[in-house]
Amino acid sequence: MEDTKLEVKNLQISFSHEGSQVNAVRDVSFTLGQEKLAIVGESGSGKSTVGRSLLKLHPKNATVKAEKLQFGDIDLLQANDKTMQNIRGRRISMIMQDPKYSLNPVMKVGDQIAEAYLAHYKVSKKIAKEKAITMLEKVQIRDPERVYSLYPHEVSGGMGQRVMIAMMLIPEPEIIIADEPTSALDVSVQRQVLNLLDELISERNIGLIFISHDLDLVRNYCDRVLVMYAGRVVESIKASELENAQHPYTQGLLKAPPRIGDIRNRLPTLQRDPSWLFN
Ligand SMILES: Nc1ncnc2c1ncn2[C@@H]1O[C@H](COP(=O)(O)OP(=O)(O)OP(=O)(O)O)[C@@H](O)[C@H]1O
Ligand SMILES: [Mg+2]
Repeated sequence: MEDTKLEVKNLQISFSHEGSQVNAVRDVSFTLGQEKLAIVGESGSGKSTVGRSLLKLHPKNATVKAEKLQFGDIDLLQANDKTMQNIRGRRISMIMQDPKYSLNPVMKVGDQIAEAYLAHYKVSKKIAKEKAITMLEKVQIRDPERVYSLYPHEVSGGMGQRVMIAMMLIPEPEIIIADEPTSALDVSVQRQVLNLLDELISERNIGLIFISHDLDLVRNYCDRVLVMYAGRVVESIKASELENAQHPYTQGLLKAPPRIGDIRNRLPTLQRDPSWLFN
């Protein structure tokens, strides 16, 4: 692919736990360009572990191996702490699921956005504040000067998530990893936040890794979908071609949600086959 921002080849991540090994990610390979790439799969399939490994945010009990983990001209496998500090937040940022846990509860939301800028750029506090207010406008917050001075508990879930997006975008990253960014929001607010994120990332040529459980959501929102099962990528497919997914696990996921107008008594249960682990 032209303009490849990230290349991951045979990524393996295991955790040692009370003397035993959990192979959480096995042989995962993918590239990311200027696109919206979804990673879907059931709980525990390894999605977040893959996301965090790109920022080297894994706990001490993790072993990470890969043939390649290349971000632009930087080999992430070899990158030292200083290089990683420059990358985290500045060049690759991560939006987490729930703003309540990601924002500092005792700091004004505006100051948190300004701080995200100050951490990476040498400017005065005044300029950082102006930048933060412009960014609040960008994420369609009305009356940004007032919202700047609110504390996290004073903003709604949707507003909190916009604040998070503002914080992640202000240092102008090249890649955003969004880990279930809207699953704490109700459906209409979810749409607004996703549309906004979409606009901002295409305007700024950002590559998005969008981690989700929701195949129905990502088929409309993303360009390409990686389906993970038990630590492996079992399918990589264009979102527009999901209907033709080959893997039985993906087909099962596609059939799982109920649809309006369908008449049926019971929802199907996903039948797992041990052989999927070896494909
Ligand atoms: N720090 C850790 N120590 C031990 N095992 C871990 C650790 N972090 C993750 N795991 C294991 O790695 C596997 C993958 O976890 P991960 O959180 O990546 O899944 P996920 O696909 O993001 O799930 P979810 O949809 O619930 O967020 C799981 O089996 C999990 O128990
Ligand atoms: Mg997760």
